Amino acid sequence: MDNPMPTVLVTGGASGIGAAICRLIVERGGSAGIIDLDEDKGTALANELGENAGFARADICDETQLTDAYEKLEGSLPPIGGLVTCAGVSPTRLPIEDYPLEEFRRLLDNHASGTFLTCKVVGSKLTARGGGAIVTISSALSVRPGPMLGYGAGKAAVLNLTQSLAVHWGKQSLRVNTIVPGWVDTPFIRRQEEAGRDLSPIRGVTPMGRLVKPEEVAEVAWFLLSPAASAMTGAAVVVDCGVTLGGGWLPYGELP
Ligand SMILES: NC(=O)c1ccc[n+]([C@@H]2O[C@H](COP(=O)([O-])OP(=O)(O)OC[C@H]3O[C@@H](n4cnc5c(N)ncnc54)[C@H](O)[C@@H]3O)[C@@H](O)[C@H]2O)c1
Repeated sequence: MDNPMPTVLVTGGASGIGAAICRLIVERGGSAGIIDLDEDKGTALANELGENAGFARADICDETQLTDAYEKLEGSLPPIGGLVTCAGVSPTRLPIEDYPLEEFRRLLDNHASGTFLTCKVVGSKLTARGGGAIVTISSALSVRPGPMLGYGAGKAAVLNLTQSLAVHWGKQSLRVNTIVPGWVDTPFIRRQEEAGRDLSPIRGVTPMGRLVKPEEVAEVAWFLLSPAASAMTGAAVVVDCGVTLGGGWLPYGELP
């Protein structure tokens, strides 16, 4: 992005990390295009953020819906110069012997295919407009193993896709970087705790002794979108309170 404050589209922008990114962008004078399945939360956030935000409902796994959402937001907000692919679904923790193929495919599809499609639809528009910046959201599970098989494979695909696209679009002034979050305190985590997963061991082994705040991920996304990161592409930036470091990660079978 040449202009530090163009419009940034944020998938999964209605909640958690995506919502924190939208808030930061608007707070700093930019505009946010929220793309999400959740119409109620997306509309409420767009209303809260005012005229510098808009909402379009779309499933990131549907190319037509994504294209329609792009066109709706392009028509109502200043020129689009950035994209953050934040939409994602919670992992399922099971041993492979009990892991249904359908569930593996659902998680792989939501993260890998959804990020692929979003980058395909928006990236081609950005290169036609002279470039910009894309930030994808991977996971600590893409670089450290865990029994969240569909999710981990999907997030590893996001990391690899990010690097491939960084090379592909390098000469077209479109930078593509990924954030590798550890455990971030969002509804995503709270839903898993409500469903009975005890995540307290994670807090115990994290070197900083706490979860990441969504606002802390938003700051890094802002930096990667901004001209301050003009030489960065294909980077995987870990934002995890130290949890992926040796000694800060639970053994495979002990991951909650
Ligand atoms: N919270 C964490 O600890 C953590 C850690 C690592 C990575 N991540 C990743 O960060 C991203 C954001 O997670 P979060 O914690 O903010 O979760 P969240 O549940 O608070 O928000 C995710 C949003 O994505 C939307 N969404 C889900 N599937 C969609 C689809 N197919 N199309 C459009 N929108 C869809 C949901 O409606 C929701 O608003 C996800 O990709 C997640 O995998 C989260």
